[in-house]
Amino acid sequence: MSTLLKNLFDLEGHTAIIAGGAGVIGTAMAGTLLGAGANVAVWSRSRESIDWALEKLTAETGAANRLDGFQVDTGDEEAVGEALQLTTGRFAAPCILINAVGGNLGKSPFIDTDITQFEEILRLNLLAGLVVPTKVVAAYWIEQGMRGSIINLTSMTSYMPLSGVWGYDAAKAGVLNLTQATANAFAQHGIRVNAIAPGFFLGKQNRALLVDENTGDYTPRGKAIIERTPFGRFGNPEELAGATLFLASEKASGFVTGVSIPVDGGYLIHNI
Ligand SMILES: NC(=O)c1ccc[n+]([C@@H]2O[C@H](COP(=O)([O-])OP(=O)(O)OC[C@H]3O[C@@H](n4cnc5c(N)ncnc54)[C@H](O)[C@@H]3O)[C@@H](O)[C@H]2O)c1
Repeated sequence: MSTLLKNLFDLEGHTAIIAGGAGVIGTAMAGTLLGAGANVAVWSRSRESIDWALEKLTAETGAANRLDGFQVDTGDEEAVGEALQLTTGRFAAPCILINAVGGNLGKSPFIDTDITQFEEILRLNLLAGLVVPTKVVAAYWIEQGMRGSIINLTSMTSYMPLSGVWGYDAAKAGVLNLTQATANAFAQHGIRVNAIAPGFFLGKQNRALLVDENTGDYTPRGKAIIERTPFGRFGNPEELAGATLFLASEKASGFVTGVSIPVDGGYLIHNI
């Protein structure tokens, strides 16, 4: 690696927490940071998902000694505090937090909205997906006088509502808003807050909406998305690597805060 690239992107000695690190996008982002030399703590709700992610990441990167997993519900403030303690006990103090918990739970006409499910989606994407881990980790950084980088996961619907997914629309608009608001509030502490807005990637949480589970073909919604994506396809999780590394690295993006980078095959600039 050239000296310039090493100076900008080498994360050796840095520790990253990937909340939702056993999901499709979280695992890809974890792989990127491991590849750049960071220690990675995968935070996820179920032990099975953690074991799956650790096995996959170890096979891909061979970095088992810089990788560990902690079982935590990221919507539970006390549990997140404990996971942070376990993480700081295992690796150098974390300076990167990726908030990759989130997802969608089906669609309906607005007047059929299931209010319980709506609340669940807000809890998943806003509280577990941003507020609780951000509150706990930022409080730790401020107390320790540490600088840090937070990367949230926004969405196409943060910019332009998707049809029928009302709770997800509201939650992801909120994630963009809070990315900007917390970036502003934490700037004085040297904590940067940015986001990546993936276009459409097949995750566990959206697969049922996009792929017919009986035939394996794309659903009408899946086809409509591809038609509206200038690149004419879904994204591959590895295509998030560049934006992840850029935002995670203080050397590469130390004066960048409050932005959301679309990685969307042009979805947001689709026109007729
Ligand atoms: N896949 C896409 O096309 C896409 C597009 C835009 C934004 N996003 C966002 O990116 C993020 C990751 O999406 P994905 O497709 O990888 O989803 P995913 O379902 O594959 O991964 C989410 C992970 O979070 C875990 N999780 C859920 N609730 C949790 C909790 N309370 N505590 C701990 N772990 C919890 C799940 O077990 C899962 O492993 C989400 O915020 C999603 O909204 C995804």
